[in-house]
Amino acid sequence: MGMSSVLPNILIIFIFLTISATGENNTTFAKPINTKKLGLGKQKLTHLQVYWHDILSGQKPTAVPVMTPPKGSESGFGSVSMIDDPLTQGPELSSKLIGRAQGLYGLASQEGVNLLMAMNFVFIEGKYNGSTITVFGRNAVFDKVREMPVIGGSGLFRYARGYVQATTHNFDSKTGDAVVEYNVYVMHY
Ligand SMILES: *[C@@H]1O[C@H](CO)[C@@H](O)[C@H](O)[C@H]1NC(C)=O
Ligand SMILES: *[C@@H]1O[C@H](CO)[C@@H](O)[C@H](O)[C@H]1NC(C)=O
Ligand SMILES: *[C@@H]1O[C@H](CO)[C@@H](O)[C@H](O)[C@H]1NC(C)=O
Repeated sequence: MGMSSVLPNILIIFIFLTISATGENNTTFAKPINTKKLGLGKQKLTHLQVYWHDILSGQKPTAVPVMTPPKGSESGFGSVSMIDDPLTQGPELSSKLIGRAQGLYGLASQEGVNLLMAMNFVFIEGKYNGSTITVFGRNAVFDKVREMPVIGGSGLFRYARGYVQATTHNFDSKTGDAVVEYNVYVMHY
């Protein structure tokens, strides 16, 4: 292919790019930037293990019903609770406080006990202080291991994605109080 056939092609590409750049898609509010500009280096995988305390009993419950089961509802379908549950390092409530799980869960199945969970893990410990991880998923509470997606995060956990595995450590059927072990696997920068 000679120079004479390459030149017109270059000219066409040049004209095309010029037209594209002056069209209505030439926006000023959005533009691609280099990942280095945000200081995004290599992605990391972090494993966190915390214990989640859902306290329904006592003077200061950390889970409060905001929507009781509608009339005629079977198995509590339709009920919603707001939570501000302590996250601790060990299974005892008296062990070191790592953060809190703030959000809500609702009974999203007509059969069985399957929750929709939407909560932010807010950490207060060390370099994680102030950073959050957002968990959103389905929790079949009587399964041994329940997996739910981590759909995002903030602070140290910007661009977070991953999953949690929840295992019931202790459940008091009289009060409804539960201690659940959460193993969090999260990719972030
Ligand atoms: C397109 O964007 C460039 C750079 O942001 C700007 O200088 C130019 O005026 C814009 N053209 C139009 C047609 O909006
Ligand atoms: C803007 O982008 C859309 C979607 O890619 C395209 O259909 C449209 O033709 C573009 N408009 C101009 C003026 O380039
Ligand atoms: C976490 O951050 C808050 C607010 O910035 C600060 O008041 C607190 O002392 C910090 N806690 C730890 C353990 O660093």
